[in-house]
Amino acid sequence: MKRGLILGAGLALAGTAQAAQKLGEVQPQRSPEQVYSAVCGYCHGQNVGPVIRGRALPVETTEYMVRHGQNAMPAFRPTEVTPAELKALAKWIEQSAADPKEHGQ
Ligand code: HEC
Repeated sequence: MKRGLILGAGLALAGTAQAAQKLGEVQPQRSPEQVYSAVCGYCHGQNVGPVIRGRALPVETTEYMVRHGQNAMPAFRPTEVTPAELKALAKWIEQSAADPKEHGQ
């Protein structure tokens, strides 16, 4: 009896994880602006790290930095910034204009 309950709880948990994963798959990706302000913008433009907008930074530079990090810049996993989000973000940074409100190191 007890065993059945535990097994049931385990199955329920597995179901939840599966549902969460499905939810993740259909979730629309965040826009580059959203990722930037949520993940990058509290350092970049805030005197922690260099300003990265308005410098035509190559897509490859941003993609490398985000996945590998460097010194005080942390690396971000694909679960934190998805591959699709990173692709759009890198392009957006390359093309973005400088924001006069931002300040670098
Ligand atoms: C915790 C603070 C922090 C966060 C968050 C952060 N960075 Fe950085 N970033 C830095 C620092 C500090 C450097 C300079 C590294 C060095 O001195 O080697 C840097 C360097 C960079 C560079 C290289 C700039 C250049 O002049 O060559 C790029 C591109 C970059 N970051 C992109 C991003 C992106 C995109 C995000 C968001 C996904 C992000 N960073 C999040 C701190 C941060």
